[in-house]
Amino acid sequence: MALLKIVYHPHPVLRQQAVPVTVFDDDLKKLLADMYETMYDANGVGLAAPQVAIGKQIAVIDVSEKNNEPFCIINPQIIESRGNELMSAGCLSVPNTHDKVPRATYVKVRAQNENGEFFEIEGNGLLGHCLQHEIDHLNGILYIDHLSPLKRRMQLKKMAKFLKER
Ligand code: NI
Repeated sequence: MALLKIVYHPHPVLRQQAVPVTVFDDDLKKLLADMYETMYDANGVGLAAPQVAIGKQIAVIDVSEKNNEPFCIINPQIIESRGNELMSAGCLSVPNTHDKVPRATYVKVRAQNENGEFFEIEGNGLLGHCLQHEIDHLNGILYIDHLSPLKRRMQLKKMAKFLKER
């Protein structure tokens, strides 16, 4: 396994529509293993392939407290959503920033697993939020896009300061 390099806004791959995965082979499983390792190393609860400069529809998630419930969503689609709430958000590609964004309270997602098998997962709270956040990544959307222009500028200033002082 290997740690992958996380790219930051405004890297262009973060803005691309990720392409569907059609081959479910050992290379994909190796990429997933590296993505899990990279997500845990960065203390993230989710990581999408565009964040490691790979423009494919793949994301890994683990919202458990003990980091022992990892799963991946490949070619995911939101097939049902309900409600609306403000949820606290951050992103490994917009480091050192946080703000509240509007999200659906509940989502149901259909996706494929590492073997190409279809499954459905539903969630609210942190899991529901994380599913929406990672699927946004696969569509070239960052959480800061859901903020007002003023709030977005404030967060981008915080990120720039953090990256400069690092
Ligand atoms: Ni993110």
